[in-house]
Amino acid sequence: MLKKKSLFITFEGIEGSGKSYQSLKLYKSIKKKNISVILTREPGGTPSAEKIRKVILDDYFHPDSKEKFDKYTDTLLYLASRNEHIVNKIKPAISERKIIICDRFTDSTLAYQVYGKEVNKNLVDSVHKYILGSVKPDLTFVLKANISTALYRLKKRINKNRYDKFSKNFYIKVQNAFIKIAKNNKKRCVIVDTSKDTTDAEKIIFKKFIEKLSKWMIKNQ
Ligand code: TMP
Repeated sequence: MLKKKSLFITFEGIEGSGKSYQSLKLYKSIKKKNISVILTREPGGTPSAEKIRKVILDDYFHPDSKEKFDKYTDTLLYLASRNEHIVNKIKPAISERKIIICDRFTDSTLAYQVYGKEVNKNLVDSVHKYILGSVKPDLTFVLKANISTALYRLKKRINKNRYDKFSKNFYIKVQNAFIKIAKNNKKRCVIVDTSKDTTDAEKIIFKKFIEKLSKWMIKNQ
């Protein structure tokens, strides 16, 4: 448990950027230091939010379905899942002053739905206003990979359907959106290139985490 405040860390990036891998690595490194930490994800993270995740992903990957969710239905499902997650997991963990590591959060909705699918930003912002309250990431790692490398990693996954989900151009658009978000939020976001060496990326992430934690402890003593 931290002394006065929790620390909320998010990982963002396109599929195949290595965010699930790197968030697990950071979680394990923090745990080794006997610091209270949880690892969670979006969409999902709680039983009810995972149910909504399943509905979203079934729609994405069902090969025979003719009627796909409209982009607004999709967006509202991500937000519904986020609300369940915030109420039942994120807010309690913040109250318990834990370190929270979350694989995807609000930046994914901006990058995929708003920039990628051109969903109205006001809708997302206003729902966020109600469901987030004061919840905001303190540190965000935006993982950036060469698009061909990311697609190659996706292709190697067991669930190969995922590779066909979006076009290469869509992934380029979404990755550019993540970079834009990171550049507009320099205090919170760190861009990490994971195209080549995942061990290097792991070290950079851990170093940045320690820097943030030290500043955090001084500020909140
Ligand atoms: P994952 O690959 O990280 O498990 O995420 C599942 C999918 O959900 C992925 O295609 C990204 C997408 N997503 C959105 O489109 N908007 C969101 O707000 C979130 C959290 C995820």
